[in-house]
Amino acid sequence: MPESLVERAREALDNAYVPYSEYTVGAALRTADGEVYVGCNIENANYSNSLHAEEVAIAEAVKNGHTEFDRLVVTSGARDGVTPCGMCRQTLAEFCDEDLPVVCDLGGDDVAEYTLGELLPNTISLDTLEAAAAKRDAGADE
Ligand code: THU
Ligand code: ZN
Repeated sequence: MPESLVERAREALDNAYVPYSEYTVGAALRTADGEVYVGCNIENANYSNSLHAEEVAIAEAVKNGHTEFDRLVVTSGARDGVTPCGMCRQTLAEFCDEDLPVVCDLGGDDVAEYTLGELLPNTISLDTLEAAAAKRDAGADE
């Protein structure tokens, strides 16, 4: 039986580098064609360069040629149902539809499930910028 996405996300916790927060996060992102990319958080002494588990997972997937995704699982060592932060929600929205299921691990078999659109409504997107460009090109006055 293939490992579940929750198990893959939990395994990714083992590689988290968190000397500052001591709060491990793992993510497992499934591509539309069924591959799974995982990520963990990787902190930095300047704090702001710290990488989040979800951005590590999506960067790895995109780097390998994937731009369509159908499910994300996020977990923490605390099994507290951690959700992607605002920055990660925006990063996910670049590639994922608003109906992407975002599954947050509550320990055991318990999860909280959201859609990306619930977590980040009205996001800025390529469509936003293209619509603005079209408006400029049409010479519309503000
Ligand atoms: N963290 C993530 O990896 N993903 C999120 O979206 C929430 C926060 C990490 C960043 C930092 O290493 C630790 O959790 C505490 O904020
Ligand atoms: Zn984040």
